[in-house]
Amino acid sequence: MMSKLEKTHVTEAKFMLHGGDYNPDQWLDRPDILADDIKLMKLSHTNTFSVGIFAWSALEPEEGVYQFEWLDDIFEQIHSIGGRVILATPSGARPAWLSQTYPEVLRVNASRVKQLHGGRHNHCITSNAYREKTRHINRLLAERYGNHPALLMWHISNEYGGDCHCEQCQHAFREWLKSKYDNSLKTLNHAWWTPFWSHTFNDWSQIESPSPIGENGLHGLNLDWRRFVTDQTISFYENEIIPLKELTPDIPITTNFMADTPDLIPYQGLDYSKFAKHVDVISWDAYPVWHNDWESTADLAMKVGFINDLYRSLKQQPFLLMECTPSAVNWHNVNKAKRPGMNLLSSMQMIAHGSDSVLYFQYRKSRGSSEKLHGAVVDHDNSPKNRVFQEVAKVGETLERLSEVVGTKRPAETAILYDWENHWALEDAQGFAKATKRYPQTLQQHYRTFWEHDIPVDVITKEQDFSPYKLLIVPMLYLMSEGTISRLKAFTANGGTLVMTYISGIVNEHDLTYTGGWHPDLQAIFGIEPLETDTLYPKDRNAVSYRSQTYEMRDYATVIDVKTASAEAVYQEDFYARTPAVTSHQYQQGKAYFIGARLEDQFHRDFYKGLITDLSLSPVFLVRHGKGVSVQARQDQDHDYIFVMNFTEEKQLVTFDQSVKDMMTGDILSGDLTMEKYEVRIVVNTH
Ligand code: GLA
Ligand code: ZN
Repeated sequence: MMSKLEKTHVTEAKFMLHGGDYNPDQWLDRPDILADDIKLMKLSHTNTFSVGIFAWSALEPEEGVYQFEWLDDIFEQIHSIGGRVILATPSGARPAWLSQTYPEVLRVNASRVKQLHGGRHNHCITSNAYREKTRHINRLLAERYGNHPALLMWHISNEYGGDCHCEQCQHAFREWLKSKYDNSLKTLNHAWWTPFWSHTFNDWSQIESPSPIGENGLHGLNLDWRRFVTDQTISFYENEIIPLKELTPDIPITTNFMADTPDLIPYQGLDYSKFAKHVDVISWDAYPVWHNDWESTADLAMKVGFINDLYRSLKQQPFLLMECTPSAVNWHNVNKAKRPGMNLLSSMQMIAHGSDSVLYFQYRKSRGSSEKLHGAVVDHDNSPKNRVFQEVAKVGETLERLSEVVGTKRPAETAILYDWENHWALEDAQGFAKATKRYPQTLQQHYRTFWEHDIPVDVITKEQDFSPYKLLIVPMLYLMSEGTISRLKAFTANGGTLVMTYISGIVNEHDLTYTGGWHPDLQAIFGIEPLETDTLYPKDRNAVSYRSQTYEMRDYATVIDVKTASAEAVYQEDFYARTPAVTSHQYQQGKAYFIGARLEDQFHRDFYKGLITDLSLSPVFLVRHGKGVSVQARQDQDHDYIFVMNFTEEKQLVTFDQSVKDMMTGDILSGDLTMEKYEVRIVVNTH
């Protein structure tokens, strides 16, 4: 068995990847620009380029007519300076001739309107014609570049997402359902609770994907559609990689995942916990809205930490930051420049949470079309004196000193559970309050205390192994299968500490409620039975008393019947005043806490501080600091690599109780250190 601290190199590179999307196909008539690109790569300390992402028209200008020479040159040029290529398959966007010849590749939206050619990320995920075309061009790419020494990795398509409602997809959905429900409409009708509103199906052909022109009201159908879209997208991806697996079995494969902004919550279009099993490496595109006018830099940094901890935990190995911007993006509501120092700080945060790369969108800024104003390494001025360019070069120089961090891990004893299916079902649920469900934001709230105390956290999904953790936090798990319940039971019985909250364990995997009360296993674990969930108006407040303090409560309250548990906190007002809001219960070797109400941050701080002490959860390496500084570590057998990051606009004092070496200067640091606004220090502690 691999030790927790054994390095995992996700690519053959033993250095940090730095570079990004490079689109020379936009500049083929400008050899002078292409020559500058290569010179500027050296000066920007970049080494890895994702090429060909939207290059189908340049590779196959007419059906069956190929032009690879320009790409051959790019490979050679990048190779000549010791750089590496992440080669993309071009399915993210297609040439006009392809849509014209094979109109079935055009996506049909949920209103059943076939989309015109144009844009990108808008193909049918079922179309055989598109699958064949994609497989063919991918084969040609693998044949031509599969043995090129510069080839590092495959980048499949781009940001897969969205659904298609065409007849091919409807057919595929019905086939998927037949296989899921053993060809039995009776089973399906039961699972979807179709007698409701007389929705019983008596022929498979009556089943249609969800549509805004006639809401079906069948939550089970909606949930299955989303599952199908994930499976069908994975199937599209699997089709893309057939020739790559065959011709280049040793080249790792990724596809770039996303997050939904501005809160950086997991992307909702696909269940990445399923997709993760099909890629060799997780990579994702991070576009936090830095310097915004509604939250502190530290609050946003906490959210960035959370999403990174989720994406890293999907495969429990380092991941890649596939895209970010060196300065502004072009699609936020306000596209503010990253302030001096922020590119380095935000880049190092990604490395600290487990990335082995800092890759940007894009290397050279486009001259026209929708991305001509998006931040890039090389701006329209083409100048290495550009501020953004120089800050990129600084990131590159920093990364060059971090090669020994590549492959290192971030073992954690605390896990928070996130589930895509639960998120979908909860959003779809008609009930509670539209504006305040905030499932992933609730997870971030539970994550916050650990982030503030620099305690490593894995954000895991329901099928992952719970046993490595001392503490498992499961907020708002509305949808819980019997399987998940029994795994949570085993975790607690074997000595784990489990924390669960309001709105948990209400429906099963079909979105059918449990009947006859809360699931008996949950009752056994927690020693309680939730009787009612009260939903408040956003402005309503109540309070709970916990260890002689009062904490503000809002949005949700569970009325609890305590059986064998102890009350930890009680409500102060309303018809459930003086009844328990938070409970604890010894269950076999473990302990189970139920937080019945949505409480303010300070409650979580105080509550989790108790658990942190009880369970001896600690940072990898203690650095004392004030609010807004984050200390995150990666480890191997002999070293702790510690990233000390000031996410505030003020100077901050940090204190090292033990001496460490600064990886940039080689200086030995101990005692107090003053950090400037946005400063980051990377230090190593050798065991
Ligand atoms: C996405 C895409 C890129 C580019 C960037 C701009 O992440 O993958 O092609 O459009 O956004 O931020
Ligand atoms: Zn389709």
